Amino acid sequence: MSAVKNRSMQSGSEIIIIGGGVIGLATAIELRLLGAKVTILCQSFKAAAGHAAAGMLAPQAEQLPIGSMLDLCLASRDLYPEWVQKIESISGVDAGYWQCGILAPRYTDEQGIDWLDTQSIHQHQAGLSQSVVGGYRYPADGQVDNRALIQSLLIASRSVGVQFQDGVKVTTIHRSQGRVTHLETSQGEMSAQHYILATGAWSQQLLPIAIVPRKGQMLSVVVPIEHRANLPLQQVLFGEEIYIVPRRDGRIIIGATSEDVGFAPHNTLQGVKQLMTNAMRLFPPLQDFPLHETWWGFRPATPDELPMLGASNDANLTLATGHYRNGILLTPITAKLIADLVWHQRTDNLLSAFSWQRFESV
Ligand code: GLY
Repeated sequence: MSAVKNRSMQSGSEIIIIGGGVIGLATAIELRLLGAKVTILCQSFKAAAGHAAAGMLAPQAEQLPIGSMLDLCLASRDLYPEWVQKIESISGVDAGYWQCGILAPRYTDEQGIDWLDTQSIHQHQAGLSQSVVGGYRYPADGQVDNRALIQSLLIASRSVGVQFQDGVKVTTIHRSQGRVTHLETSQGEMSAQHYILATGAWSQQLLPIAIVPRKGQMLSVVVPIEHRANLPLQQVLFGEEIYIVPRRDGRIIIGATSEDVGFAPHNTLQGVKQLMTNAMRLFPPLQDFPLHETWWGFRPATPDELPMLGASNDANLTLATGHYRNGILLTPITAKLIADLVWHQRTDNLLSAFSWQRFESV
């Protein structure tokens, strides 16, 4: 890590974060705790992808290849327990962090390193489909209740003095001589010393930046009341084309489709059918569980599916977007690295692979 003394960012410096999802909120809190005056401009809090996620903390179950992304994800997973405790102690709201482990059952034999054979996978989880022939177990992976987390972050941000403005749409970023001069918004012009773009799937509305929405449909069921005392699932199941995330309160989150349909809203019968079929195939007891909710959200997908983090073309605009499938997982490390970068001008080596410069269109 290199450190350069920053003379421009001092206590009371003003920072505007565009985007009020988990990344914007967490980064705002870090910067506020360092002494910045932070405003979040949020087009629509309820649309943020953080509400729609399942909350898996799954760098290993996602089977990310060895390299920078896996390093970033593992570093963030390591930060989670302490970070979430900090947020909860500020907000007073439990975010449902649970290092429950993830089981990844398979229908075909793989015999890889750490492969669990048929008998052991069924020992690790009762009720799995008889078609499951083996799989993997990742005890260090886990989950957070993403809806509780985003509420916890919102309350914590307000507690520490972040100005959170919901329903404010930034329409244009004005710039001159390599710097952002001001923002045009639905509430008039606004300016600050530094700006952070954390607008997820909506980033392309403000910058020519290669991020598109990738829709995910989700649903939840609830464990029938007679099974609540001894929940049938106490770990995440990360199957083929399906994941099943049990919450401690008896909800079970099931996801997700992955669709290139722009910002097309709504659940579709096809999407819900796909989730139900794959979930019941993997864990047949679900067929008798009451359906609770259906919803959808938009992942911010870059062409290489890696986030865009760090400096932009403008000296006072930093990017923290494009987290695709791993926004909840990457929240603590993103907040820490971006706050360090903006406040102390410290560029961690972990950031180097995620520069926007890898895409020509920006
Ligand atoms: N993180 C899982 C998903 O995006 O579906």
